[in-house]
Amino acid sequence: MSEPTSTIPADSLAGPRFAVLPPLALYVHIPWCVRKCPYCDFNSHEAKGGIPEEAYLAALERDLEAALPQVWGRRVHSVFFGGGTPSLLSAAGLDHLLTRLRTLLLIEPLAEITLEANPGTFEAEKFRGFRAAGINRLSIGIQSFNPTHLQSLGRIHDDKEARRAVEIARANFDNVNLDLMYGLPGQSLEQALADIDCAIGFGVQHISAYHLTLEPNTLFYAQPPQLPDDDTSAAMQHAIEERLAAAGYAHYETSAFAQKHRACQHNLNYWQFGDYLGIGAGAHSKLTTQADVLRQMRYKQPKAYMEQAAAGQAIQEQHSVPADELGFEFMMNALRLNAGFPPALFQAQTGLPLQVIETPLQAAEARGLILRDPSRIQPTALGQRFLNDLLQLFLS
Ligand SMILES: C[S@@+](CC[C@H](N)C(=O)[O-])C[C@H]1O[C@@H](n2cnc3c(N)ncnc32)[C@H](O)[C@@H]1O
Ligand code: SF4
Repeated sequence: MSEPTSTIPADSLAGPRFAVLPPLALYVHIPWCVRKCPYCDFNSHEAKGGIPEEAYLAALERDLEAALPQVWGRRVHSVFFGGGTPSLLSAAGLDHLLTRLRTLLLIEPLAEITLEANPGTFEAEKFRGFRAAGINRLSIGIQSFNPTHLQSLGRIHDDKEARRAVEIARANFDNVNLDLMYGLPGQSLEQALADIDCAIGFGVQHISAYHLTLEPNTLFYAQPPQLPDDDTSAAMQHAIEERLAAAGYAHYETSAFAQKHRACQHNLNYWQFGDYLGIGAGAHSKLTTQADVLRQMRYKQPKAYMEQAAAGQAIQEQHSVPADELGFEFMMNALRLNAGFPPALFQAQTGLPLQVIETPLQAAEARGLILRDPSRIQPTALGQRFLNDLLQLFLS
């Protein structure tokens, strides 16, 4: 049952107001990879002749020091080292960096601290070092366990290295995610499921299964490989979801599946429209003040970033999110969560009353795209499938 449409309260037109700030997370970007994958549009650059680790770590420290007044007194609930390939860092370098982060920021003692790793960079000793430095969750870019598909994706590792990486990870970490992609060049439904079965067989706590997309500015976009057709891809998605559910993984976000209590806290914070400070080349931040939501982006090219960060000016671009875009931005994140969100979260994270999106909520409900009760607003199976159509309703 939907409530009657109400007019937008006058005070919401003045812009957002926050009594309490949303939870804060920290993202650290490492912008290098051994080789650039032909499908990838992340801010990652080929590390020709190694990475300038010392200079980059110093730039990160300067970047953080300059950003401190913007997060003064706030506790950090999770940390994520993403890339690129953060596992290219040395264990000693990462240990030093984490010590500095803990000195400068109030990181919760039990905070989830994730590091993204590429199977082509696994040495047991180094990963023991990462664990000792304080990393407590590993996210490995496996993509596939099939040697032919790994080759067609231009990966630097083969299937044996992929398996070995998971073994080393499982031996040292009790919270491991594997990234898999499906809809790969020449992939059959059975092959996609074989990858999922292999991941399940390792007993990892979390699996991310992404549909391979052709992103502009990538080699695959310019020279598209032969991909499975839409019906086959949809069948793969469906079968993957069934297989993971049967193995006890909860499908909590579009591409994310977790064993009980193992949902990724850092990503949940994004999807719940929490705040995050992003340091490193091209990193994005979302920071709430008492009456504003700020978005920032750091210089993207590693060289420019290091120069600017050294001068305490790593931020290339900053703007406030206009009040009339906050509702859409919130929904774009929160509706990715299959369990949806409690209605009170909307006001907590946007600083606006829920009434500002009452009209599109009613339209979405009437079209069977969401379900509402006093405790939850949730996308239906139809809403999850046609998420873009659902989100269109919230574009003002
Ligand atoms: C930033 S990467 C980090 C992992 C690490 N760099 C690696 O690839 O081993 C995060 C994940 O995004 C996924 N991804 C990257 N490009 C993609 C694309 N075009 N389509 C779907 N998923 C993609 C991959 O599964 C990848 O592991
Ligand atoms: S290793 Fe990961 S981040 Fe680097 S290019 Fe490949 S997919 Fe992108």
